[in-house]
Amino acid sequence: MINRIKRIIICASALGLSTITAQYNVGLCIVATGKYIQFVPRLIESGRKYFCPNQKVTYFIFTDGTLPEADDVVCLPHKRLGWPYDTMMRCEVYNRHSDELSAMDYIFATDADMLFVDTVGDEILGERVATQHPGFINKRGTYETRPASTACIAGHEGQHYFAGGFHGGSATEFLKLVRTMLENIKIDLEHNIIALWHDESHLNRYFIDNQPTIILSPSYCYPESWHLPYRKRLLALDKNHADIGK
Ligand code: GAL
Ligand code: GAL
Ligand code: MN
Repeated sequence: MINRIKRIIICASALGLSTITAQYNVGLCIVATGKYIQFVPRLIESGRKYFCPNQKVTYFIFTDGTLPEADDVVCLPHKRLGWPYDTMMRCEVYNRHSDELSAMDYIFATDADMLFVDTVGDEILGERVATQHPGFINKRGTYETRPASTACIAGHEGQHYFAGGFHGGSATEFLKLVRTMLENIKIDLEHNIIALWHDESHLNRYFIDNQPTIILSPSYCYPESWHLPYRKRLLALDKNHADIGK
């Protein structure tokens, strides 16, 4: 439950009446190792315009690169691990920095190669927030199905397929999610198994065991060059993977 109000802004109106607006601290986590740092300045700039404009947003950037300093950006050093660990171990980085992150009321995580193009606002503020993957709308997707993996999803389970590119929730729930995913990924690694779609597979397992309280449409992970019957809010940018180094 979110019951801590971090900032109170009191605006006195011309009539001498005052209105009180509570603002939440919202963190946006972005892992950007290697060439992915090139996406971050534009992503932050777009976030300043469109991401939770009513709240106080902090950008947590985990990188081996550099970024210009800014009041709303926390840059945390993070080494490149190589594919697919750069993506799969994102939960390890978030978990390692749980002290800094727990100062937030809500925490979201996005891929680095994304861009806000319309408001992603208070409608996303919930306990456990998942985004429908644009490739599998209202259906089961490419789940991990090998029983040897802790991410395994059986034939009778699963109703949605969620994207690894954007998810979040209250700080408590987000940190619980990353802790659980990390434990499961480590168990898999001990058994020499890497789930089909890495952290996304584990995320889907988690959201079966802990149902999302908000399910966002593919507006919130909208592939740049696709045509879907949704409004574009958060774009997943087209990229040349060879150029980015995956
Ligand atoms: C990728 C992800 C990128 C970036 C990278 C790690 O899987 O799509 O946005 O986070 O991992 O540097
Ligand atoms: C692809 C996407 C991958 C993964 C996959 C799941 O479109 O690029 O990151 O989400 O779908 O099947
Ligand atoms: Mn991506």
